[in-house]
Amino acid sequence: MVTIKNKAALIKMREAGHKLASVMQGVLPSIVDGLATAALDAEIEARMRAHGLQPACKGFKGYRHASCISVNDIVVHGVPSQETRLKAGDCVTVDIVGISKGYHADMARTIIVPGLKEPAAEVVRLIEVAEQSLKRALEVARPGIRLGVVSRAIQQVVETAGFGVIRDFVGHGIGRQMHEDPQVPNYDTGDEGPILRPGMTLAIEPMITVGSPEIVILPDGWSVQTRDRSWAAHVENTIAITENGVEVLTQVR
Ligand code: CO
Repeated sequence: MVTIKNKAALIKMREAGHKLASVMQGVLPSIVDGLATAALDAEIEARMRAHGLQPACKGFKGYRHASCISVNDIVVHGVPSQETRLKAGDCVTVDIVGISKGYHADMARTIIVPGLKEPAAEVVRLIEVAEQSLKRALEVARPGIRLGVVSRAIQQVVETAGFGVIRDFVGHGIGRQMHEDPQVPNYDTGDEGPILRPGMTLAIEPMITVGSPEIVILPDGWSVQTRDRSWAAHVENTIAITENGVEVLTQVR
């Protein structure tokens, strides 16, 4: 069942989104060569709590960290660790979910760890294309169209650029729960999906790779790695469908 959020709920989701975006903006400059992903996670948790955001990932299905930090060939759900140290030129995704006044916001960004004179051109383009596909999704999303139109728009941007779209993980509705209906695939499933209506809130999150979109789950039970070990990028915003388009909730105002 797809829930429609009323004005009061949207105010709370907007607040959650603004706080989460502030956390993201604050933490990305801390990403430097040599930083352990566990240290990055600790900073994220501290920043979330300072903003009055509860880290939703912590305790979710037994997950023990405030964030997912996915490096290079890890697509999503990378587990922060003292052993994983970021290196200049690495492609790192920070994915965070925060709860404010009972409502969730979910957001991800991928960046290249600074320090190389010339980061790999292909990785720069991979991240650009992931961002472009999300931007395109937000341009086409509006009330009255079917969700499938959004999914195909993402797929088209990604595949036209020569990259692969992950099939095994998808975006989702969001609100009182981290994951609500509907699923938001980043590719054509053959199902047109629900009609978008004002008050729907969605986490749209293209996950793309340089190579084949096939994935494996690592023995930690979480980390999603590309089967061919090609590098991946993931960007995500929480949005609301409005009367005439979309509002990005995960943005700093
Ligand atoms: Co999500």
